[in-house]
Amino acid sequence: MTTLAKAIQALPETGYLKMELPHGIDYIAEINRLRKQKNAVILAHYYQESIIQDLADFVGDSLALAQKAATTQADIIVFAGVHFMAETAKILNPTKKVVLPDLKAGCSLADSCPPADFAAFKKAHPNHLVVSYVNTSAEIKALTDIVCTSSNAEKIIRSIPEEQAIIFGPDRNLGRWLIKKTGRDMLLWDGACEVHEAFSIEKILKLHAEHPDAEIIAHPESQEHLLKVARYIGSTAGLLDYVKSSDATKFIIATEVGILHKMRQEAPDKILLPAPVEDDNCNCSECAYMKMNTLTKLYRCLQHELPCVEVAPALREKALIPIQRMLEIS
Ligand code: 13P
Ligand code: SF4
Repeated sequence: MTTLAKAIQALPETGYLKMELPHGIDYIAEINRLRKQKNAVILAHYYQESIIQDLADFVGDSLALAQKAATTQADIIVFAGVHFMAETAKILNPTKKVVLPDLKAGCSLADSCPPADFAAFKKAHPNHLVVSYVNTSAEIKALTDIVCTSSNAEKIIRSIPEEQAIIFGPDRNLGRWLIKKTGRDMLLWDGACEVHEAFSIEKILKLHAEHPDAEIIAHPESQEHLLKVARYIGSTAGLLDYVKSSDATKFIIATEVGILHKMRQEAPDKILLPAPVEDDNCNCSECAYMKMNTLTKLYRCLQHELPCVEVAPALREKALIPIQRMLEIS
C-alpha cells in the first residue's frame, strides 16, 4: 500500500472539514492574511483552477515546483497540486509542514504502478538502472535510481552511459517517446495517464483540417499516434514557452486544459484550441484529481494546517536519493 492509500485510510483529520465555514467570508483576503501570518508559501501546478493559480506565490511544472520546494524559506508549504507533488516536497523538506488541500488528489499514472509489482519487475531485471517519472509514490521513488520529469527526462536518459541497461516507468507513452528521441532501448513499465490517453486523434485531425494554420502541440504523456502529428512535444512549462515564442498564432493543445489559463495570460494575442477528447459527454481533458483542490479547501488547509502529507523517515531517506540526483542533473 502506498503512503497516499495509507493516509486516506487513516483520515481522522477530516473532522475539521465538517466544521461550518463562516458566512460572507472573503476567501482571497483570508488566504492572503493567513499565508503572511504563518509564513506559508502556496505552490500551484498549471493544471489547478485559474483562481488558485492567480493566488499562488509560484506556478510551475512539476520540475520547477520541486526546485522551488527544495529552496523555499517558508515554514509551511501549501501544495496546490496532486499528492505525489506534495510528497516530493515533503521528502525534500522533512522538518517543514506540507499540506495538500485535498489528500485524495492522487494521480492515475502514479496509481498505474503498484510498488510490489514494480519491485518484482525490478528484481527480474537486476542489471538495469531504474529511471522513474516524478508521477510516482514515495515507495516507487525508493526503488528508483534517478527520478525525472517531462522537462528533464531526455537530459537524464542521455546522462546515463550508453552500455547501461535502463528500466523506465511508469509512463509507457513518455517512455516510448524517449526511446525514439535518444535511441536508447529501455524496458518500459506499462502505465499511463487517463487524461492524456483520452484525446481523440480523429477529432484532433478534423479540428486541424478546419484550422490548418494551427500547430498541434502535445504533452509527452499523450499516445504515440498523437505525438506523431504534434509540431512540438514538451512539459507543461515547455508548451507554455512554445506558445509564447512560436511565430504561429493558433494552437491545438493536447494536455490538461488548466494550462490554457497561463497561456491566455502570457500570450493574450494567441488563439488556443483545447484538443478534443473521445467521449463527448466527459470533461476528460480536465484532471479530476487536480481539480479536487478548490479555493474553499485551500482556505481550510491554510487555516487548520491540514491535511498534512507525511513520509516515514526510512522511506524518505531512500526516496530522497533519486530526487536529489535529478535536481543535481537538472
Ligand atoms: P509537467 O511535469 O509537465 O508539469 O506534468 C505533470 C503532469 O502531471 C502531467 O500530467
Ligand atoms: Fe496524473 Fe494525468 Fe492528472 Fe497529471 S494529468 S496529475 S499524470 S492523472
